[in-house]
Amino acid sequence: MKLSVVILAAGQGTRMRSALPKVLHSLAGKPLLRHVVDTARKLGDVDVHVVYGHGGEVVKDRLKSYEINWVEQSAQLGTGHAVAQALPTIPSENIVLVLYGDVPLTQLDTLKSLVDAAHNRSLGLLTAYLDNPAGYGRIIRDKSGAVSCIDEEKDASEAEKSVNEINTGMLVVAADLLKKWLPVLDNKNSQDEYYLTDIIAMAVKDGININAVNPESPMEICGVNNKSQLAMLERYKQQQQAQLLLTQGVTLYDPSRFDLRGKATIGRDVVIDVNVIFEGDVSIGDDTYIGPNTVIKDSQIGSGVQVLSNCTIENSIIGDCSHIGPFARLRPETRLAENTKIGNFVEIKKAVVGAGSKVNHLSYVGDSTIGKNVNIGAGTITCNYDGANKHHTVIEDHVFIGSASQLVAPVTIGEGATVGAGSTITKNVGANELTLSRTKQTTRSDWQRPTKNK
Ligand code: UD1
Ligand code: CA
Repeated sequence: MKLSVVILAAGQGTRMRSALPKVLHSLAGKPLLRHVVDTARKLGDVDVHVVYGHGGEVVKDRLKSYEINWVEQSAQLGTGHAVAQALPTIPSENIVLVLYGDVPLTQLDTLKSLVDAAHNRSLGLLTAYLDNPAGYGRIIRDKSGAVSCIDEEKDASEAEKSVNEINTGMLVVAADLLKKWLPVLDNKNSQDEYYLTDIIAMAVKDGININAVNPESPMEICGVNNKSQLAMLERYKQQQQAQLLLTQGVTLYDPSRFDLRGKATIGRDVVIDVNVIFEGDVSIGDDTYIGPNTVIKDSQIGSGVQVLSNCTIENSIIGDCSHIGPFARLRPETRLAENTKIGNFVEIKKAVVGAGSKVNHLSYVGDSTIGKNVNIGAGTITCNYDGANKHHTVIEDHVFIGSASQLVAPVTIGEGATVGAGSTITKNVGANELTLSRTKQTTRSDWQRPTKNK
């Protein structure tokens, strides 16, 4: 039987106090709704329907790479009404899994067992036991222990409120049954809403078996209604990710001070110091050290690399045994070969640096191709921008650039050339030559320092 997943995401999320629709707020670097869609996708060949409301265009735009049937619910008349909006496009022979765009951390295994619970036309219901069930719909069971209905907190009696088995909202049932039940829901309750939860009593009346399934952790059913809940789930997710890396053998000096906002592939004997953030897709080879306060985004770091403290690395590739930082900034399209050395207060952008080359201090290297074993002295600047266009600098193998030089692009420094310190180079430099452009040093031996006027 084919599975259709209906994700409810029409709520405004006013308590987030944000212009951004709630389901687009980021958890571990990914919008809440994408967490839900990604997990649902892993169930196999499913079709995904997202019920959106106010501000839905932004939501659609942010998930435009996904194959989703977008269903508008212009007025939020309740969860039952929301699911009903998606039903017309779902074939009656399918089964339907209802999920929530603001409940991001449900495990795939939990959803699998929920789907299994809907076998033989049963209704699979995800419930949880909470020490503090306040705010949730309560699961009401009969004397035999079978689920008989769900009572919303706002409609529940005091006795019902003491029940600590709650409705997570997630359920699985045959589409044809939903098509029978949802049109006859009413909104005669304290909130004047069409409650999806009312189908439980209808199912019981129709002799449909209700199979309750529980998640492994209560975090799996937590929704995000405000920034405090978002922060709590972020910490939980980060802790889970850090634990996984620790089991894989990564050394994290403080698991609570490492954040992964994306995906990381990390080799053996890697040490990650405190306050490190990885974003996007990051890979690290073996025996590499990442120093404190470093941010690495969408980059490949080789083996035996030392990244010292306070570096920012984005969209870069760093060769084995290189030495970066402290305080280095590697901007997009930096390509460092093996054994390079990029020191403090150096900025590299869109540049290839050959094996064994060094840019040790206070330099800017942009739009450049640098050969092997080049030494770039402190304070060197590739002047790549003329105010309108970017130009390229080529520095061939074994070149020595003296400190405080400016290389005005486009320019090529030939193999083995030496540029004297303090030069402004505007023309190509031939191989193995020494080029200087500084003014001759003069001395006045008769000179006296001025003295202060009385
Ligand atoms: C719902 C359940 C409750 C359960 C709780 C779990 C009902 C009637 N109650 O209550 O039993 O314990 O979730 O969190 O289902 N939504 C729409 N369109 C609507 C209404 C809601 O898309 O018209 C979406 C919201 O964006 C939200 C979700 O459905 O993500 C839940 O809606 P909400 O009104 O918060 O339901 P609860 O009162 O929390
Ligand atoms: Ca809610």
